[in-house]
Amino acid sequence: MPEEAAGDVGTIWSPGSWRAKPAAQQPVWPDLDALEAALDRIRRQPPLVFAGEARALQAALAEVAAGRAVLLQAGDCAESFEFSANSIRDKLRVILQMAIVLTYGAGVPVVKVGRIAGQFAKPRSSATEIRDGVELPSFRGHIVNDPGFTAEAREADPSRLVDAYHQSTAALNLLRAFTKGGFADLAQAHAWNQEFVAQSPQGRNYEVLAGEIDRALRFMGACGIDLGREAQLHQVDFYTSHEALLLGFEEALTRQDSLTGDWYDCSAHLLWAGERTRALDGAHVEFLSGIHNPVAVKLGPTATPEEVVALCARLDPDRQPGRLTLIARMGADRVRDSLPPLVRAVRGAGHPVVWACDPMHGNTFMSSSGFKTRHFDDVMAEISGYFAAHEAEGNWPGGIHVELTGEDVTECLGGSEDVRSENLERRYETMCDPRLNARQSLDLAFRVAGLLRR
Ligand code: PEP
Ligand code: CO
Repeated sequence: MPEEAAGDVGTIWSPGSWRAKPAAQQPVWPDLDALEAALDRIRRQPPLVFAGEARALQAALAEVAAGRAVLLQAGDCAESFEFSANSIRDKLRVILQMAIVLTYGAGVPVVKVGRIAGQFAKPRSSATEIRDGVELPSFRGHIVNDPGFTAEAREADPSRLVDAYHQSTAALNLLRAFTKGGFADLAQAHAWNQEFVAQSPQGRNYEVLAGEIDRALRFMGACGIDLGREAQLHQVDFYTSHEALLLGFEEALTRQDSLTGDWYDCSAHLLWAGERTRALDGAHVEFLSGIHNPVAVKLGPTATPEEVVALCARLDPDRQPGRLTLIARMGADRVRDSLPPLVRAVRGAGHPVVWACDPMHGNTFMSSSGFKTRHFDDVMAEISGYFAAHEAEGNWPGGIHVELTGEDVTECLGGSEDVRSENLERRYETMCDPRLNARQSLDLAFRVAGLLRR
């Protein structure tokens, strides 16, 4: 008999107990038999990650909760099925660069978590999209349908669930090779600075920093330290995460750990509920409440202290450091007012959570040229407001959660190369929300390092 964790009052948690609750943001699957067949295939596949890895991430996050480390969670808004080894490598590069800047600048370890190898499903503000009087289901990510504006493209196709599983295994395999097989070696820090980044002021600052790291390594070697034996210098721990949106898919990858008997969602190390799926009595919170992975919840400006404390009680009843991350995405103009009462309430309730700032999702608007965009200045303004709010509360700010790519895209405005509204069309390639390009990401890391130093 599988062990069952205590869920909501009066219910017993199981990987499928979410089915008795209202599940927001689920696609309409036209063929339920095909859906069941796809889920059954996934149920018979090996796990993507191990329970022990999820526990290691929770231990690392506990250090963030205690104010001794920083969380960097980053990646695409929505990953595309059309990926390449290069796009994964470049995303990893920029995340490694940002981590170096934060580690060196703030003097604390950085816990690295990608929105990667499974970030395929998107919640949408509207179930349908209308163009020229034609109404079709919204695009919900490559795990569900295709962005093309035809009825056929937009139909939810269960075979995509199986494709998403295989896509995740391929991405994760490459990430494991990159992070453990030499690419993430500190001695390679210069090589992470891509050509188009290296020419920017931030790229040049990064070169200086990488040079200092070289000198420090040579110094340690000269002192007789056998650098070859220090695994930390040659490998990084890199974790995966995505929004646990399609609960049937997540359930199919939820497995019982043979060591502890606990249930883990083995589709990623960390799973989160979004601003649209965090209903206390909803299916998503029910599902997250019983898995033993570290979990996160996004909080928008309407979240009340009572609501947030209730979410903490539900998702972190045992008050375990690192179990729960709260990701504030308030908007630059609201964070200074909305956040402090939440921070106070959570602390008052005794939950040792990790706080993180998502400075992207509260700052999205339509550019005059017709693109969904964000301005780098608003992103930085939200981060500054977020840090100020934590400082005022005497609370460790935890970390940041950003949407970025390693490529030279033009999706967010501003930054040192000053992307303007009329430039957005040049390389606007996102599947969903606008991402920081590698230069903007590095710029952001230097500024966050400055805030952390304070
Ligand atoms: C996202 O992270 O891409 C997202 C949809 O965020 P939120 O739930 O905060 O809107
Ligand atoms: Co997004």
